[in-house]
Amino acid sequence: MPLPAIEVIESPHLALRPVQAGDLADLLEINGDPAVTQFLPYTTWQGLSDAAAWLERMHVLSAAGTAQQLVVVRKQDRKVIGTVLLFRFEETSARLELGYVIGRAHWRQGYAREALVAVIQHAFQKLSIRRVEAEVNPNNLASNALLRNLGFAHEGILRQRWVAKGVAYDVNVYGLLASEWWQRHGSC
Ligand SMILES: CC(C)(COP(=O)(O)OP(=O)(O)OC[C@H]1O[C@@H](n2cnc3c(N)ncnc32)[C@H](O)[C@@H]1OP(=O)(O)O)[C@@H](O)C(=O)NCCC(=O)NCCS
Repeated sequence: MPLPAIEVIESPHLALRPVQAGDLADLLEINGDPAVTQFLPYTTWQGLSDAAAWLERMHVLSAAGTAQQLVVVRKQDRKVIGTVLLFRFEETSARLELGYVIGRAHWRQGYAREALVAVIQHAFQKLSIRRVEAEVNPNNLASNALLRNLGFAHEGILRQRWVAKGVAYDVNVYGLLASEWWQRHGSC
């Protein structure tokens, strides 16, 4: 079975819904910033053609049934301020991986945490996911701190796991189990 489609996930200040072509202008503002893409596997977007190529890659991933790309919409002004990717869905093992990006103008306002809490809750409760994973460059201090803040366990380091922008880099592997989440946040 493919990853079940998500229509919308709501949190107090945010709504997360599937990406649409109409989001690309807001997403270019976010991913056109080298400070945002520094630790991401793709180069800084130069224009809408990069945005369209990215959207096409996301469509291919979701058509394979293993991923869904969501955008993070701020309810107050309906602005798209970031993205959350659910990917590498493995039905048999009931696990998936998360990727996330928030535009620089909105950092340190609790948006990534709020978005991920809502997505994780949805994954454990509605999608029967058992384990959520993330891989993070050790130099990405914000992302490593965010995952620890959310209760992810640091499970190890994969050395020179990826090559991006011509450079090989290690990744910290993080995992969060549904049982741990419910222990911390009350039973489901
Ligand atoms: C990582 C990222 C998503 C965090 O988004 P954010 O909305 O600023 O994060 P939040 O405000 O929700 O922060 C939640 C917690 O994460 C940690 N954190 C976030 N940014 C941090 C930073 N720059 N330094 C240290 N800790 C940080 C803190 O524990 C923070 O809680 P606190 O503010 O109460 O101390 C954002 O920096 C980003 O988009 N970076 C570029 C893209 C990227 O690297 N994505 C991850 C790829 S693995």
